[in-house]
Formats: sequence, C-alpha cells, structure tokens
Amino acid sequence: MSWDRWIRTVEIEPSLYAADFAHLADQVDVLLRTGARVFHFDVGDGHFVEPITVGPVVLQSIAQQIHAGDGVVDCHLMVNEPEHHLAMFKAAGADSITFHYEAAANIGAVRDLARRAGLQVGLAFNPETDVDDVAARAEGFDLVLCMTIHPGYSGQELLPEAIDRIRRLRQALPKDVHVQVDGGIKFENVRSIYDAGANLIVAGSAIFGMEDLPRAYRRLVQALA
Ligand code: DX5
Ligand code: ZN
Repeated sequence: MSWDRWIRTVEIEPSLYAADFAHLADQVDVLLRTGARVFHFDVGDGHFVEPITVGPVVLQSIAQQIHAGDGVVDCHLMVNEPEHHLAMFKAAGADSITFHYEAAANIGAVRDLARRAGLQVGLAFNPETDVDDVAARAEGFDLVLCMTIHPGYSGQELLPEAIDRIRRLRQALPKDVHVQVDGGIKFENVRSIYDAGANLIVAGSAIFGMEDLPRAYRRLVQALA
C-alpha cells in the first residue's frame, strides 16, 4: 500500500496529538465513521522539539483499530536521529514515517532504511529551512511536509509566510511527490492552503478543539470541494 492509494485527491488528516487521550479510541472511531482515513501521529522527543509527546506504546494501542477501519497511520517524527526509531514505529503499526530534514545527518540513508523496514516515507522541514534546499533533496520520498508553525505544539497560529512557502515547494517538487502541511490549519485558511498546492492537510485543534468532531472534520473536507 502506498500514499498514491490512500489519498482521495486531498486528505484532511486528524492530528491525534490534539485528541483527548482519555477518549482516544472513541474519537478515532467517530472520525473513521465520518470518513477520515489518514491519522497523523506526532512524536516529539524533548530534544528536537521541546515537548515529549507520544511514542510507540500509544501507537500500538490505536493502530489496529485504525487499520480495521481501513485507515492508515502517518507518523511525524519530530526527533533527533530518527534512524534509531524506524523499526519500532513499524512494529507498533506505522504505515508511513516522516522525519525532519534538520534532524538527520544522512537523509538518503534514513529514507532507504525506512523503505527497507516496509514504510512509506516523508521529509519534513521547519519554517527556518530553505524551501529549495529541501526540494532539491526530495527525490525518492513520497511526500514533503512543510511545517506551517514551529513544531512542538498544537493550537498555534499559521505563520504568515506559509502560503507562499507551500506554493514554492509545490512548484519545486517533482509531480509525484505529495505536499503535506502541518500547523495552524483551520476552516478559515484550509482552502487557500489547498489552492497553494497541498494535498495532505493535517489538522489538530481545528478538529479536536471542537465540540462536534464529525462536523469539524466535514467542514474542513467541504471547504475543499
Ligand atoms: C505540532 C504537530 C502538529 C499539531 C498540529 O508540531 O506537528 O501535527 O498537532 O496542531 P494544529 O493543527 O492545532 O496546529
Ligand atoms: Zn505533526
């Protein structure tokens, strides 16, 4: 299975980092039944990003449910030395991992290791990083993730330069590499993000920060129709 099969033109990906972890299974269930397919799972190590978020133990407890509902798990590794963690995330149920350009000494080697582990693979980059530098290294990746906030926490505002960076990235990348965006996406800006060229759109607080999760997810999807 691969990203090309998972994406229905464009995917809104609920970011589980923003979920209520006391009700994680229920929230995942509701979103699966509403039509969500790709679930974004944020791993922060307390070094590459300030917070320690969640890891393989939590992933393991939820991955089976996601797969049973025809969903997939997209792991965003905000960690140093991602190469040490690939096999563990694969074993815990990850379908794809995305690691950071800034966090890996040898990008191609980590990519190949992820592929050999049976994972789809993405390359993420921070707001300070040059778009063209990343695009030039994107060969062999399924997706490139343009951070539209400083990584670490849910609930931040989209950075003002985000739309322009997404547009530049889309233009610079080969056609078959998907553009993912993460951070600060909400109903009011999701359309302009899609129009700028993103087809994998992560949403944390714009879904889990709302009372009615199905309604929040559907509104984001409908904004792109
Ligand atoms: C933060 C994570 C995001 C986060 C997004 O660094 O990478 O995935 O959950 O949350 P929102 O959509 O609330 O900005
Ligand atoms: Zn993320």
